[in-house]
Amino acid sequence: MSVTQTPRPLAARRSGALRGTATVPGDKSISHRALILGALTVGETAISGLLEAEDVLNTAKVMRQFGAQVTRDGDGLWRVWGTGVGGWGEPDDILDFGNSGTGSRLVMGAMATTAITAIFTGDESLRNRPMKRVLEPLELFGAEWNARDGGLMPLTLRGTDMPICIDYNVTVASAQVKSALLLAALNAAGRSRIVQSALTRDHTEKMLKAFGADISVEPLAHGEAIYVLGEAELKPCAVDVPRDPSSAAFPLVAALIVPGSEISIPGVLLNERRIGLIETLKEMGADISIANARESGGEKIGDLIVKHSALKGVEVPPERAPSMIDEYPILAIAASFAEGRTVMRGLEELRVKESDRLAAIVAGLKANGVNVEETEIGMIVEGGDVPGGGRVTTHMDHRIAMSFLVMGLAAKNSVRVDDVSMIATSFPAFEKLMRDLSADFQKVNL
Ligand code: S3P
Repeated sequence: MSVTQTPRPLAARRSGALRGTATVPGDKSISHRALILGALTVGETAISGLLEAEDVLNTAKVMRQFGAQVTRDGDGLWRVWGTGVGGWGEPDDILDFGNSGTGSRLVMGAMATTAITAIFTGDESLRNRPMKRVLEPLELFGAEWNARDGGLMPLTLRGTDMPICIDYNVTVASAQVKSALLLAALNAAGRSRIVQSALTRDHTEKMLKAFGADISVEPLAHGEAIYVLGEAELKPCAVDVPRDPSSAAFPLVAALIVPGSEISIPGVLLNERRIGLIETLKEMGADISIANARESGGEKIGDLIVKHSALKGVEVPPERAPSMIDEYPILAIAASFAEGRTVMRGLEELRVKESDRLAAIVAGLKANGVNVEETEIGMIVEGGDVPGGGRVTTHMDHRIAMSFLVMGLAAKNSVRVDDVSMIATSFPAFEKLMRDLSADFQKVNL
């Protein structure tokens, strides 16, 4: 997404009951990983259900820059012919990841143990996100880097020709950092050990196993240790990408707060490390049931049936944060309509997302008359009737845009969002999908 693009404001108005089927797109995390692992594999990786949104398309483009062949055969159907672990070629131009922290950080790891150099950049939001959390541990493998202001993009990463395995404790609760190190370990001599106390999403581990890597996970009293054997040779593996629970979260909460609603959301990924929002909403009294629970490609999936519900405030356990880290903006909207206080803590990572999400949520809630208290690491929302009528600044953050549009569907007065263009980074069909359920969105001028 280019920051020079004209902002596209949109308003959401109180809507009638939402009804129908919300078919949300493929999971963003799994889509990035399928392309990257495909490019690290010699042979053909066939992918179905790939998320065709700007973030993932940027990763596809970057994989081509490293020498992989990446082709699109139809809606969500892609094929990748990779050059293998250690086989990436040096890109002849800068790598532009747009808005994507996941794409950029995972690729840093995947190239750091190959003797090539690349320059990483992205949009204004990504250029302000911390990269040292990945770059510093990559130094332990032997990689070198230079970054603007000591840790921001644009940055240059020089992969090493003598990669050695590492034993490293990831102290931030970040699946991106963990995944970057696991990918780097693939080309390092010896067995690397990556420890993390937070149980962050485990798609990289699962997919590496499916691609034939020698990877094992040892549960610890606090967290887990992941072992990866280097000098790996990955085997091609077909990937069927389940639908994204982080995108499903928007129609899901919309149906909960708009009276009379009942919708279904088929084929959603229900990985245990991604369902914190569903658990929390159920504790708040949400009527969410799961039909056709099944497995696909080693991941749990199911169809969600969601009915409008009277919600009540809860204390969200901070240790649940990693399993719903992207869902706090939309949970804050649900909390605004719930009776009583919802307390959310352990949210320090929200300060370094596509925006300072904690500040952006709090500002948006206040602009719409919701009583909210911001703390250094969380927020307390006092729910009830939501006046609405406010204008929300999205700070180039797709999830802030979608969350406040959902708020407008049930608030007394319409809610205006200053720019919805960033929604294309993760969920290009959001507006149409919501309108098809009968959401009332109106074009407005700022
Ligand atoms: C992701 C990890 C999370 C999440 C992001 C996707 C991933 O980021 O917020 O949307 O695919 O690994 P952090 O690693 O910064 O927590």
